[in-house]
Amino acid sequence: MTIRTDYCGRLSVDDIGKTVTVCGWVSKRREHGEFLAFVDLRDRTGMIQCVVDHAHDIRSEYVLAITGTVRERPAETVNEELSTGSIEIGDATVEVLSQAEPPPFQISGRVEVDETIRIRHRYLDLRTGRMQRNLRSRALINSAIRRAMDAQEFVEVETPMLIASTPEGARDFVVPSRLTPGSFYALPQSPQLFKQLCMVGGIDRYYQIARCMRDEDLRADRQFEFTQLDMEMSFVDGQDVRAVVSEAVSEAAESITGERPGLIPEMSWLEAMNRFGSDKPDIRFGLELVELTDVFANTDFNAFKAACIKGIKVEGGSEIGRNQLDQLTDKAKSWGAKGLVWVKVGESGEVNSPVAKFMSEEEISNLLAAMGAVAGDICYLIADDWRQTVHVLGLLRLELGKPPVNEGGFHFLWVVDFPLFEDIDGEGNPVPAHHPFTMPHEDDLELLSGTAEPNDLLRVRSQAYDLVLNGWELGSGSVRIHRREIQQQIFGLLGISEEESQQKFGFLMDAFRYGAPPHAGFAFGIDRLVALLVGEENIREVIAFPKSQSGTDPLTEAPTPIDQTQLDELGLRVLPPAT
Ligand code: AMO
Ligand code: AMP
Repeated sequence: MTIRTDYCGRLSVDDIGKTVTVCGWVSKRREHGEFLAFVDLRDRTGMIQCVVDHAHDIRSEYVLAITGTVRERPAETVNEELSTGSIEIGDATVEVLSQAEPPPFQISGRVEVDETIRIRHRYLDLRTGRMQRNLRSRALINSAIRRAMDAQEFVEVETPMLIASTPEGARDFVVPSRLTPGSFYALPQSPQLFKQLCMVGGIDRYYQIARCMRDEDLRADRQFEFTQLDMEMSFVDGQDVRAVVSEAVSEAAESITGERPGLIPEMSWLEAMNRFGSDKPDIRFGLELVELTDVFANTDFNAFKAACIKGIKVEGGSEIGRNQLDQLTDKAKSWGAKGLVWVKVGESGEVNSPVAKFMSEEEISNLLAAMGAVAGDICYLIADDWRQTVHVLGLLRLELGKPPVNEGGFHFLWVVDFPLFEDIDGEGNPVPAHHPFTMPHEDDLELLSGTAEPNDLLRVRSQAYDLVLNGWELGSGSVRIHRREIQQQIFGLLGISEEESQQKFGFLMDAFRYGAPPHAGFAFGIDRLVALLVGEENIREVIAFPKSQSGTDPLTEAPTPIDQTQLDELGLRVLPPAT
């Protein structure tokens, strides 16, 4: 067996004169005159140039053990871009440990490769510097999180994967039961109910790096399977939870950037919506929403006879052309706006806007004053009800100013005081903004009485909070309801009958009969945290074996049909797909 003495990327000028054996993959081979060849050998630490005898038949991605002497490279061949660029292994002998067919894509260098091909051959993709770095960073982050949670006396508890459904708002992945044909386990969308049971069980401080499964449409920040740092604690309030989580994400960020983020600021949900048009504001940049409703309170312009008018100013943005403005307007309409007004400020302060003629001089001067707009600026205005106005301007703000993922540093933000309900559904039932176990704000409990009107309900604040990083929702949590009667009342408001709640969450309600401590918790997405910290736009890039955009695995070809014996055993019959 070949004995490796050193890693390729760790050799340095200090090793000159030493005889070493390195092992790895051939990254590149170049002829050098008639008798010699350069071989760049790659392992997980980096690359080293080896000068080998021409006689060997060596190709890309062959696995070699190379033994030779470390020496200085001739000055003209020094490669500044490589950490080992000033040395090489000379007089090298080669042992071929494994041959390789030509890989389906180039592994060294920055070549764009189709996603499906990368995942189909993920074991090759994992050899790239990008994936090596990303997975290593992920491991560092996981261990930083564990360190932070352990130091704060949290106990790691593993919760089951085969469970009854958990309500996190997505579709369940289900597993048929062989022993109870016709019955199914659900895979956990999160450990929510079990961690609450841990609190009833006196664990006091629980955490888990938990795999969660949700059958929802895949996006850049969503996979079917993902990982959360999940935690729960007893006899605390939301502030205590946020302090613990802040510590964990700060430790994680420091493990990658070497710098500890400062105290994470807090902002109320209402302020976030008003200033940024989003409950997950990207605070790396300005372009804040400006309130203009009063400016147009008595307007004759029909489009502006609306409950809420707000605007965004782009400094020096008046150069934008008509085509682009039309495109922005179309986008705004696709987000649900009725239209988009733009107002440019010219060199001598005169305004240019297709709707200027509908505005009074006073309105125009008050508009410019409110926006702080001067020559060269452009203002974008939306009029609608409050929700729609902030929603559209929030998206427009991102369209106009969102920096690339790897720019602008890391800006964590706590968004607190979420409303309990985000909407009223078609059947008149309120839709919970978080999950149904979230405790309403103590001061708003009376708004929840049996006679509550939908408008009252939408005003009820909850004790839920989110953690945001650079415009991504990193995590959510809340103070939980620990009293049966309030939980029952919330289920009632959500249109979940007593029978249904007993059937789905009976075990939690039963547990609450036997002394439930007040408790609160949180979960954040580790895939998302890692992606942002390493500067990736898609969480796929920080997952070793992800699903492709269509939700399939091109590597193992999952999902696959199962054979008839398995189906029979499970008591399942597959129907032809509906046409
Ligand atoms: P929530 O549903 O908000 O809360 O999930 C918490 C965090 O998990 C991450 N996440 C995902 N990441 C990748 N792909 C997905 N499909 C996906 N879905 C969610 C996000 C999200 O913010 N039990 C509650 C937490 C609690 O109340 O303690 C929960 O799961 O980063
Ligand atoms: P209209 O009166 O519908 O022809 O619209 C006149 C201009 O106002 C167009 O440029 C529209 O894009 C814009 N507009 C119409 N409704 C709104 C609205 N609710 N908010 C912002 N701009 C609007």
